[in-house]
Amino acid sequence: MDAAARTLTRPALAGRAPNLWRYRELLPLEPDESPLTLGEGGTPLLHARRLGGALRLERLLIKDESLNPTGSFKARGMAVAVAKARALGIRAVALPTAGNAGGAAAAYAALAGLEAHVYMPAGTPPAFEAEARSVGASVTRVPGSIADAARALGPCALGNRWYDLSTFREPYRVEGKKTMGFEIFEALGGLPEAIVYPAGGGTGVVGLWKAFDELEALGWVGSSRPRMYAVQAAGCAPFARAFEAGGRSTQPWPDPRTRALGLRVPHSRADFLILNILRASGGAALAVEEEGIEAGVRMLGTEGLFASPESGVAAAGLAQLVTRGLVGTDETIVLFHTAGGAKYVEQAA
Ligand SMILES: Cc1ncc(COP(=O)(O)O)c(C=O)c1O
Repeated sequence: MDAAARTLTRPALAGRAPNLWRYRELLPLEPDESPLTLGEGGTPLLHARRLGGALRLERLLIKDESLNPTGSFKARGMAVAVAKARALGIRAVALPTAGNAGGAAAAYAALAGLEAHVYMPAGTPPAFEAEARSVGASVTRVPGSIADAARALGPCALGNRWYDLSTFREPYRVEGKKTMGFEIFEALGGLPEAIVYPAGGGTGVVGLWKAFDELEALGWVGSSRPRMYAVQAAGCAPFARAFEAGGRSTQPWPDPRTRALGLRVPHSRADFLILNILRASGGAALAVEEEGIEAGVRMLGTEGLFASPESGVAAAGLAQLVTRGLVGTDETIVLFHTAGGAKYVEQAA
């Protein structure tokens, strides 16, 4: 951190390209390694006046992650993880995915000249498979959830010496995700009071928290933190259940069901970390009913945004926080819009 602080100064940042590699000193790449970029990061923080007005929130900001390459925030983690894999001499990467991470991994693997093997649940909308295939990845469909896809992938990854990019199995995706925290800080000149995030595995929660710690180590923020709210779908809500029960870890969700496919994650390897963060921040994990997801998508629609069901879950979660009196009218609140709705259209139809 001391070395980073010498060159990562505010004047230096002002002159750098608006992608996530502007925080390069804090990313796991050696100085002589070239970054892998499709232009990820640098997404807008939109002042949501219409939605804010409807919810009586004066400073509601939407972090529009749908503008990333491949259309979701998954690009951030994959840009860094695949760059690092290439630097380590890896030839092939593989992962189980609900869809967005697979598309992003495939795209960055193509750019890096690596093989990519993507395992997705059988019910994943066709656009995700088409996207991964079009950039040269092999796609395997597996009956069940992402946990079943992970079980099918495991022995193949081991046998073929594929580098496993599963959530929290390698450390670098979180590093890419943390740049969302740096960007929020840069846009606001400080941190917001609350952050609302649609959580599946929860890499964003861990990444944002790490970013805030690093900003503090650089002397740019103090010790206070935003309240972190992780929103899940009621049909797969292991964090919400454990949070309510006061648990330190989550129980694997037996029959995960939700159309917010990225949140259909029955168990996260970082469950204990995420529960700790939510509690330390004064935030919470909450769940929204399946019927509320469409309403959440329409809430983002009032801001001109075509949202994925996952983003809809986050918006519906924010409405619940307002009803429960957990967020204040004059607080600065960042709502994460993690992906656009286009790839889910066949599912909706
Ligand atoms: C659009 C979208 N939002 C949110 C998530 C959840 O992300 P995480 O697993 O980092 O919690 C996913 C995961 O697939 C996703 O695709």
